[in-house]
Amino acid sequence: MDEKVRQWQTTGEVKDTLNRQLRDLRISVIDRCNYRCPYCMPTEIYGDGFEWLPRQHWLTPGEIKRVAGLFTQLGVNKLRITGGEPLLRRDIVDIVGALSSIPGIDDLALTTNGTLLAERAAGLKAAGLRRITVSLDSMDDQVFSAMSGNRGELQGVLDGIEAARRAGLAPIKVNVVVQKGKNDHTVLDLLDHFRGTGIIVRFIEYMDVGTLNGWSLDEVITSKQLVDMISSRWALEPLERNYRGEVAQRYAFVDGQGEVGFISSVSAPFCGDCHRARLSADGTVYTCLFSTNGTSLREVLRSGASDADVVGLLQNIWRHRADRYSELRGGATKSKAASKVEMYRMGG
Ligand code: GTP
Ligand code: 5AD
Ligand code: SF4
Ligand code: SF4
Repeated sequence: MDEKVRQWQTTGEVKDTLNRQLRDLRISVIDRCNYRCPYCMPTEIYGDGFEWLPRQHWLTPGEIKRVAGLFTQLGVNKLRITGGEPLLRRDIVDIVGALSSIPGIDDLALTTNGTLLAERAAGLKAAGLRRITVSLDSMDDQVFSAMSGNRGELQGVLDGIEAARRAGLAPIKVNVVVQKGKNDHTVLDLLDHFRGTGIIVRFIEYMDVGTLNGWSLDEVITSKQLVDMISSRWALEPLERNYRGEVAQRYAFVDGQGEVGFISSVSAPFCGDCHRARLSADGTVYTCLFSTNGTSLREVLRSGASDADVVGLLQNIWRHRADRYSELRGGATKSKAASKVEMYRMGG
């Protein structure tokens, strides 16, 4: 970025109580999803009568752009759009277009379950999206279906990934949540499929996000266990981080067939370098994935607050931040806080 623009943009930078600078904003644009992954929205709980955020509370593309733009004054230069399932928003291309025109943003990515990606990939790219991350937990049809709460269809997701590749959304990453006894036996098949394609697979330790997935440590497969399992088939060597605070630890396949990543929030927390804030679809700011509450901006925005007022509010939130949930969780076998906000609401 041009140095003058950066100076102008970062006049409002502020560090939190642990000396961490804000760099990364994750924007959830919708809390609904067409999947019911058992680790996120178990079907028994999120049935047909479940109450989602009212649509009139969703921030509009213009409001999202305004908030993200003001966040750049605090030092944000990286945006990720999440959900729920963000492609369920009919105005998702407008949202991407709005965000891609903000000066000072170096990276604009989106995380999706891939079901609607085949039809949307080209439009998203044209609107300015740089890259995409697709959640895909198994290459086995039955396991895949179970991990989506019997909602997903594997071939549709693979078609979506292919459409993203053709559209030039790069690099493409595939996120895999690994749950013991559910999909861990299909890990090697998944790598077999994506190795050598340029698509980067990353395994995520099953986390105690929210309160409703019944998390217990017994169901976690650690990254170390996965590295051992994968190394017995293909030799791996550690890679440097791409950037400070990157959540994935990267390894290269020694035979030159690409890389694989591990996100170890349970076994090796990375709070010390966490410079992420989250904005939910209804305009609430959260400072940790495991927060029990946040600060609503919606009424502030809709009652005519000035940009300076909003920036001041955001600075105040960040200045008081002390979150390090994953570090404090330690080796707990059950989830610690009882009233955490669900992940599909605050955004992964
Ligand atoms: P890149 O920008 O491509 O490096 O990806 P990323 O790691 O920012 O993004 P992604 O959205 O793919 O994150 C992958 C997963 O890591 C998320 O879905 C979460 O499960 C987990 N994760 C990301 N950020 C945090 C965090 O701040 N805390 C915890 N505990 N987990 C996180
Ligand atoms: N543990 C780890 N990852 C999770 N995700 C959703 N719930 C959990 C959980 N309990 C992941 C999804 C997706 C991203 C948005 O968050 O698989 O890749
Ligand atoms: Fe939907 Fe993603 Fe949650 Fe699965 S993990 S239910 S795809 S929001
Ligand atoms: Fe950041 Fe909270 Fe995750 Fe720690 S647990 S890395 S503070 S979001």
